[in-house]
Amino acid sequence: MFRERLQNINPFNSLGLRIFLIICLVGTIPVVLLRSIILNSYETRAISVRVSEIQNQCTILANHLVTYGYLEDPSSETVNTELDQFSSLYDGRIMIIDSDLKIIKDTYSISQGKIMISEEILRCFDKASISKHDKKNRYIEFTTPITDLETGSVIGVILTSVSTDNIAETIKIMGRKAYLFEIIAAVLTVCFAVFTTIYLLKPFRDVNTALIQVEEGFTEEKISVPAYNETKVISESFNRLMEKMKTLEASRQEFVSNVSHELKTPITSMKVLADSLILQEDVPIEIYREFMEDITAEIDREDKIINDLLSLVKLNRTSNDLMNITSVDVNRMVEDVLKRVRPIADRQKVDLIFESIRPVTAQIDEIKLSLAVMNVVENAIKYNKENGWVKVAVDADHQFFTVTVSDSGIGIPEESVAHIFERFYRVDKSHSREIGGTGLGLAIARSAILMHDGAIKVESTEGVGTAFTIKVPLKSLGIQPAATTKSSEENEDNEEKDK
Ligand SMILES: Nc1ncnc2c1ncn2[C@@H]1O[C@H](COP(=O)(O)OP(=O)(O)OP(=O)(O)O)[C@@H](O)[C@H]1O
Ligand SMILES: [Mg+2]
Repeated sequence: MFRERLQNINPFNSLGLRIFLIICLVGTIPVVLLRSIILNSYETRAISVRVSEIQNQCTILANHLVTYGYLEDPSSETVNTELDQFSSLYDGRIMIIDSDLKIIKDTYSISQGKIMISEEILRCFDKASISKHDKKNRYIEFTTPITDLETGSVIGVILTSVSTDNIAETIKIMGRKAYLFEIIAAVLTVCFAVFTTIYLLKPFRDVNTALIQVEEGFTEEKISVPAYNETKVISESFNRLMEKMKTLEASRQEFVSNVSHELKTPITSMKVLADSLILQEDVPIEIYREFMEDITAEIDREDKIINDLLSLVKLNRTSNDLMNITSVDVNRMVEDVLKRVRPIADRQKVDLIFESIRPVTAQIDEIKLSLAVMNVVENAIKYNKENGWVKVAVDADHQFFTVTVSDSGIGIPEESVAHIFERFYRVDKSHSREIGGTGLGLAIARSAILMHDGAIKVESTEGVGTAFTIKVPLKSLGIQPAATTKSSEENEDNEEKDK
């Protein structure tokens, strides 16, 4: 399964391949370097030993040449035999050059009698003996001065060139052995690299197998691969993600069942009302009218639920394009909201007070934040007492502005405070239904505020009143909304973060 998944992936991005290549390189490069270093230093050493050996022999030979007066008379049998033996012993050629630069003896008998002028020879007459190694043609050439024993002056030069074939041959044999060693080392390194890679990657394969088992539904258990710190961290992160997804799935299912229930309730009421009209004969027109008014109220309720749901869905879309950020006069925006809800407040006999502490201009999406303020103010009016009051205050510091909505209403029980931002949550279902709520208002408000990277906080005392504080950055970046199932506790965390 692990391999199948890897098929569509670029193999050069594979951790396994990288580990394999690194081990192969680390294993083989030193062997190759070692071979070339050993062979090179052997060659240098062998050449220098050979040069000093022959140089010694040539110095002895030069003394013999002087002793026998070979430069004046090159016919000495003894010296010529010595020169030929020397030449065949070292597989080389010896030329004796006198002070007139004339070759008086060539063991190859090719250049005898010719004049020889070369930099090496001229320098040798100045007592500077030179040796040079021609690697390509495989020979060493060097000069030895023939010095007059009495005057100490150079009276001739021995030019010796000897073959280095046997050294090259030895290097060749050594090289072949080294290649064999290299091949064995490379094979061993590759085997080691393969086993090490398989061994090192095993925990990652285990993580993947565990993930696949979860994905295919074989297990719902938490995965645990503690072999490496890395796999441990991956497993833990995955387990946390799974927990989050389970919570999200549970909340999604709850939301779907709530939506279905809420949408069904008005329809059921309408059906009951319509059925009772159909089943009764000769229904008086007043009853008809009353039932039809009830049906219209249920249709309005259904319409409100659908509109609220659509707003919520829109606010939960994860796209910044949906934010229409402009520079908004917040006091004016709040006043507009209050103008719209004033008829409801008047009907409920609730006093609506607006307090502008300072002028505030903020970069926000006016429609979305108006909706949030509207829902909170609407609640403050709806869940109020007769002759109660609602106070809306706008303030700001250098970073945030706040809209505080306090009321003298019925308050929220302590155990309910944590849930009021959940979708479809209502404290007193029967009472809220009487008032006409669906439990979506605060969820919508919270989503709109979170989209502005703001926070909403509530403080309430049952029977005394409630105060909602909306806090939004003056320059909103349009941060994405979180899942609306978060409780007000999490919301307060957000608040803490802002501080
Ligand atoms: N100012 C308040 N005073 C007392 N209770 C409140 C106040 N605001 C909200 N609540 C409680 O919180 C619940 C959730 O409020 P929310 O605005 O989400 O729903 P709703 O008002 O019932 O319906 P909707 O706003 O969708 O018409 C309300 O049902 C109510 O019980
Ligand atoms: Mg409401």
